[in-house]
Amino acid sequence: MWEWSAELIENVQFIYELALAKLELEAFGVDFAVRNGLREFVLKNPSNVDLLVRRLAYFKTVGDKITDYYRLTRYNQTRSVNQYLTHWIYPYKGKFHPQMIRALLNILKVEAEEMVLDPFIGSGTTAVEAQLLGINCIGRDISPLCVLQSKVKTESAQAIDKIKEHREEAIISFKRSNSANSSAAKEPNEKSYREFLNSINDEQVRNFYLMARLVAVSDSARRRRNIVKAFDKNLALMIASVEDYRKAKDELGLQLGSVDISQGDARQLALKDSSVQGIVTSPPYSIALDYVANDAHALEAMGCDLDEMRDMFIGVRGKGETRIELYNADMRRSFQEMHRVLEEGRYCAIVIGNATYQQRKIKTIEFTIEECEKLGFTLVKNINKIIYGLYNVMQTDNTLIFRKDN
Ligand SMILES: C[S@@+](CC[C@H](N)C(=O)[O-])C[C@H]1O[C@@H](n2cnc3c(N)ncnc32)[C@H](O)[C@@H]1O
Repeated sequence: MWEWSAELIENVQFIYELALAKLELEAFGVDFAVRNGLREFVLKNPSNVDLLVRRLAYFKTVGDKITDYYRLTRYNQTRSVNQYLTHWIYPYKGKFHPQMIRALLNILKVEAEEMVLDPFIGSGTTAVEAQLLGINCIGRDISPLCVLQSKVKTESAQAIDKIKEHREEAIISFKRSNSANSSAAKEPNEKSYREFLNSINDEQVRNFYLMARLVAVSDSARRRRNIVKAFDKNLALMIASVEDYRKAKDELGLQLGSVDISQGDARQLALKDSSVQGIVTSPPYSIALDYVANDAHALEAMGCDLDEMRDMFIGVRGKGETRIELYNADMRRSFQEMHRVLEEGRYCAIVIGNATYQQRKIKTIEFTIEECEKLGFTLVKNINKIIYGLYNVMQTDNTLIFRKDN
């Protein structure tokens, strides 16, 4: 018998991570045992070592081979282990843990070149992780800020040379737009930042520089940093991260998946029936977290009307009991859409928590299970994860994995 040892990555600390690590191996049909100390697994007769090396999320090594995921996490311009490659761009609240999403894509058995959907794409975590695995991804979100983030994170690598060509002009025009004497006469050919953005024809390049401005605004507001310095520093980091993306692709020989990200409403998806092979998503916890208020600054800077946004966002309309009723009705419609567009026999992972609203516990997890089962989904796994730091609003997060059986 051939035995291969596989070692967990150092950052794996929680029970739910160990559970997901085991489920990943099961999804690849590997027979295994966990050694004493829990960090080392013995894989018995694995027939697909190369695939395991390319796909696993929680393992550092398989035999003497270093996994692709471990190598990818080394391309990191931040101090946070989760925020490798372009994941860190923009401090969006309520982001998925990227490693968990990679594991879920494995557990859901979505193969390279198949299509995964995230109808609440948020900061784009699912899109980045799918793309790195060669899986195509459709991402929808009602928020233009989320659409922008997700596009910049996944589409900039192909435009990096053009992005770099505009760097000096961006820095000059940003400084000009934000200096105390910005009304002073311009040098010939000197543009304000808005004029600079409008002068860029390439959408990916324009999106990148729009994002760079929003990252600077948010960074200077949170850290009370001078905005021009914040822009210079973050722009350098963003460019380095996008260059890392391209380097990682070349050095690991990745075939990136395609991305199709646009503004859309999860209650009414413009997608065909049975057209996706997996769904990974986390619906708004907006009863607990007001996304519109949270991102008001950036949404306004993008020219959005906040009242209009509020009407389309799930979970922020109404007060008291009405808010909960509207939330439930909206979520029901979203589950119906997920069920409609997923291929039969395939899986859907929904990450959701029970929130506390006006001192009342809202049982969103139980509601989700009940509604999804009514539609013809079968709950095949329910993995609990305790959240730290949000104790007053949310205590636990569950990952619910459903199979579409009819
Ligand atoms: C929990 S967040 C998703 C976070 C995401 N998983 C990530 O890693 O960043 C939920 C998202 O739902 C979006 N949303 C709210 N109402 C929506 C609607 N009607 N259709 C689509 N997206 C909506 C919000 O903008 C928010 O980005």
